Amino acid sequence: MIDQSTIDKISEATKILEVVSDFVTLKKSGTNYKGCCPFHTEKTPSFNVSPSKEIFKCFGCGKGGNAVHFVMEHESLSYYDALRYLARKYHIEIQERELSPEELAQRTDRESMLVLNAYAQKYFSNTLHKHAEGRAIGLSYFRERGFRDDIVEKFQLGYSLEKKDAFTENALKNGYKKEYSVKTGLTVETEDGTLIDRFRGRVMFPIHGLSGKVVGFGGRVLKSDAKTAKYLNSPESKIYVKSNELYGIFFAKQSIVKNDCCYLVEGYTDVISMHQSGIENVVSSSGTSLTGGQIRLISRFTQNITVLYDGDNAGIKAAIRGIDLLLEEGMNVRVLLLPNGEDPDSFSRKMNAADFVKYINDNQTDFIRFKTQLLLEEAGKDPVKRALLIKDIVKSIAVIPDNIIRSVYVRECSKMLEIDEVDIFNEIGIINKDKRVNNVWQQKTAVSQVYKTEQQTAAEQAGALPEKKKKPDTEALEILRCLVRYGEQFLFQDEENKVHNVASYIIAELENDGLQLENPLHQQFLNEAKERCYTENWNAEKHFKNHQDINISGIAIDLITEPYQLSKIHDKITPPPKTEEEQRQQEHERLLNLIPRVVFEYKNRIVSDKIKHLQEEIKTAQEENADNLDSLLIEFSQMDKIRKQLAQFLGERIILPKDF
Ligand code: CTP
Ligand code: MN
Repeated sequence: MIDQSTIDKISEATKILEVVSDFVTLKKSGTNYKGCCPFHTEKTPSFNVSPSKEIFKCFGCGKGGNAVHFVMEHESLSYYDALRYLARKYHIEIQERELSPEELAQRTDRESMLVLNAYAQKYFSNTLHKHAEGRAIGLSYFRERGFRDDIVEKFQLGYSLEKKDAFTENALKNGYKKEYSVKTGLTVETEDGTLIDRFRGRVMFPIHGLSGKVVGFGGRVLKSDAKTAKYLNSPESKIYVKSNELYGIFFAKQSIVKNDCCYLVEGYTDVISMHQSGIENVVSSSGTSLTGGQIRLISRFTQNITVLYDGDNAGIKAAIRGIDLLLEEGMNVRVLLLPNGEDPDSFSRKMNAADFVKYINDNQTDFIRFKTQLLLEEAGKDPVKRALLIKDIVKSIAVIPDNIIRSVYVRECSKMLEIDEVDIFNEIGIINKDKRVNNVWQQKTAVSQVYKTEQQTAAEQAGALPEKKKKPDTEALEILRCLVRYGEQFLFQDEENKVHNVASYIIAELENDGLQLENPLHQQFLNEAKERCYTENWNAEKHFKNHQDINISGIAIDLITEPYQLSKIHDKITPPPKTEEEQRQQEHERLLNLIPRVVFEYKNRIVSDKIKHLQEEIKTAQEENADNLDSLLIEFSQMDKIRKQLAQFLGERIILPKDF
């Protein structure tokens, strides 16, 4: 699909720091950069990016790879589409050849759906600007609302025609498959097989994912009859999980980082109007209360959220619903209640960006105070209501993970509610104790699970179940570590003047003894190295680190980044080199020492395992007076000889088993 030289060009141009920074806020930490991992939930950053090695690695969830892997994983793209993404980012032209039918079929559903959405977005925009109906109804609606043309363009707004299958017909005619049109929800298939457009006679708001791809649409009716819902949205699908998307995040992310703050509003038009007025760090949860996924999305860019809501009651309720969740995630939450009858859309039209931001800063209150005030007003003098309210607020405070921030709130609330601080702390203690009880219970179930797996292992060892790998294959991994790090480096020249590098030596040594690495993925390293280790300019680390198979690259990166285990022990203490030549010399000597050792360690383990096994067999054979005892003993003595040779080489003491 993409030729190797283009792939190389893309790899050369790509800077992992820039690629990751588009999605994750990174802070410098030594020579590396650190941030919160986008692949699992965490509060303390364990996600590392190394610009010098061009790799990322999360020490929390273990994910690691190069820039291509990051994009693959983060955007759920195939290897080639991740390369395309990077090519676009770095303005590298890709000469693509026609895809074969098989290759086409291989494109995942997800990609096909995204492709169709991209087409639909263009189709709707085109209709808005070029079609008579689109211009007369859609475009004039946006203009009446005061949306500038550049903003209509930026948000890729569009229009869907009244005709009941205008889009579907057009898409099918242009070769897009019905399957994806239905899967994205752009087309609805009725029971009798008729295809109708989901969106008809609506202005269209494409919903962009974090990387700018259109994952869904919202469509607003223009007629004001109450029969149809004002907004119709794409259904949930493989590419559109409503609870994980925030409208506007793609356009907002840079500004959120720059301002270290994110405004949260209710609707599509609020986001768009605020952009138009010049405030870009704004997203919308599209009329629903916030979800954990959405909060995680924001928290990658900032810890500070201000919720902007209209003064009517529904707005307030919506604001409150999502917020304990925000507190729990350790976010700093503030609330700005707009004057009655205003929403961010209308309000941002009344003043310029600077004044709006000033208004927000002057009038926002922290969430706890906001909630307290609100509930106090509601409760009035009613003592029962007041008691409930206190419990409610304390519950909000109790979820705040930071002790100091929590104490500040306790002090403030004790003043507002006229209760003793100590009483509030006590109440928090009770709530959190309940939680701890829950945790202990969870731990117990975890222990029973461990217990269960222990039982299972015992059963496996007794032969009841196929034996699974229990410990990491340390010796094999050491071999791979040498292969990945030094594969192409010169080792020695044999009697026939054949040159051996690290890779060819390892491969020959194992093949001579008919050994394969147990894990097929590990063996694949050797197989691939075998094919390439004599090609000029082959670089083992580069080859494996940038491997198309994320499982291979994952292992390779672990091997590069993990601290040494065995190999460190074998390092001789030598004085630091004085010249470059000396350094090369030293490194070579080190390899001559290290590589054979690592290979022999592996062989030693295989032989030891074999011997252990033989011992057991011999024992049973002796007990049962079996015929094969002699052949077992012969095999044992052969193995033992090999072990002694290996041990001699490895300079280790031979510990004879007691029975012999
Ligand atoms: N919404 C929705 N479905 C509805 C109503 C609302 O999905 N039937 C979502 C939309 O994302 C909408 C948001 O909730 O943008 C807020 O709703 P609302 O305030 O009614 O819409 P506005 O964005 O203010 O739109 P407009 O100003 O065009 O009325
Ligand atoms: Mn509105």
